[in-house]
Amino acid sequence: MRTEGQGGELMTGDEIKVLISKDELEKRIKDLAAEISRDYAKKDLLMVGVLKGSFVFLADLMRYVDSNVSVDFMGTVSYGASTKSSGEVRITKDLEESVAGRHVLLVEDIVDTGLTLRYLLDTLRNRQPASLKVCALLDKPARRRVRVSLDYYGFIIPNAFVVGYGLDYAEKYRGLPYVGVLENPEPEK
Ligand code: IMP
Repeated sequence: MRTEGQGGELMTGDEIKVLISKDELEKRIKDLAAEISRDYAKKDLLMVGVLKGSFVFLADLMRYVDSNVSVDFMGTVSYGASTKSSGEVRITKDLEESVAGRHVLLVEDIVDTGLTLRYLLDTLRNRQPASLKVCALLDKPARRRVRVSLDYYGFIIPNAFVVGYGLDYAEKYRGLPYVGVLENPEPEK
């Protein structure tokens, strides 16, 4: 179980160094929301969150976007519990709504190799949305294996494994209010 001290510090064996603070996240997300609000003014927008990692980001982002926003989710797995990408993408949960003829914004937590995003974009494009764009909180370009372009992104980060603000390591740390670098993770049990 994760326990936190008063300053949000962790009391587990893993070492986590803050990379993007809670305040920095909030400020950047407000800016992104303002940009999205301008671009989708007078349009109905369907935000598609990619589970599980994007749910915290999406929840904050949509509260600052001032257009008519609907939400749906897709679930994918690409990593299992490991910090290394297997290169394999599988849909574990599909959308409940049809995207045909709709303005879709795919909301991702992090783009690493790009394989998940590439796969989701191909899948959604086949369903003929009116428009399809991508908003990712974090971009980790160092490990990119396929070319993908991000219409909106929050932060470009170095090649490190990050957790918090929705992102996990073996399902831990999603609830941290900041994004931190996981240093020397304890071996999985
Ligand atoms: P990609 O397919 O390699 O771009 O990876 C996308 C998915 O891998 C993300 O949506 C995350 O769930 C996971 N991922 C990639 N890098 C990290 C990381 O640094 N921390 C936690 N999850 C990550």
